[in-house]
Amino acid sequence: MASDFRLFMTQLLKRPHQVVALAPSSEGLAREMAARVDPAAGPVIELGAGTGKITQAILDRGLPPEHLHSIEMNPVFCDRLQVAFPGLNVHHMSAGDLGDLPLENAQAVISGLPLLSMPVALQRSILTGTVAKLRPGQDYVQFTYGPKPPVTPVVREELGLSWEVSRKIWWNMPPARVYRFRQAEAATRAAE
Ligand SMILES: C[S@@+](CC[C@H](N)C(=O)[O-])C[C@H]1O[C@@H](n2cnc3c(N)ncnc32)[C@H](O)[C@@H]1O
Repeated sequence: MASDFRLFMTQLLKRPHQVVALAPSSEGLAREMAARVDPAAGPVIELGAGTGKITQAILDRGLPPEHLHSIEMNPVFCDRLQVAFPGLNVHHMSAGDLGDLPLENAQAVISGLPLLSMPVALQRSILTGTVAKLRPGQDYVQFTYGPKPPVTPVVREELGLSWEVSRKIWWNMPPARVYRFRQAEAATRAAE
């Protein structure tokens, strides 16, 4: 079986507009993405799971694999996830159809999607689906390499999203920050 890194690179060359990253997330970034997962707080939805770096970090928090739903549109990555993580719910679909997933009350939606490179209409369906699936007050977690929040302003405003942002995670290629968005009255914008 090809290594995860090799598989990722092969798919990056074949589908550059879907993968949109130089390498899989580092362990440090994946740990930060999963840091607030509570193993006893019910289902988690993961978007754009790829070869499973963030999947692994979520499961390392102690969440039973049956409570994790990983959405991925690339069939090769889906096959790898299915083999690597027995018991995991792998959904071969676009995150844009998240609203159709028969699941409610998620404790978090954790996304490795290349959100900022997506058209606004697709971002809107992903975030609208997210809000419908999340328990009220819970987070949409998204990393980004750039200096701006990874959800475009028009979608943030439409959905009333506030956010907080992590320190910069240097040990990643390229360095990244983790944003936590939620629908809430009070915005906490804790940039460094
Ligand atoms: C930047 S890679 C991240 C992979 C992995 N989560 C990580 O952090 O290493 C983006 C992933 O999102 C997937 N993806 C892109 N667009 C998608 C969509 N609309 N729905 C579901 N998955 C998508 C790609 O196939 C790829 O696996």
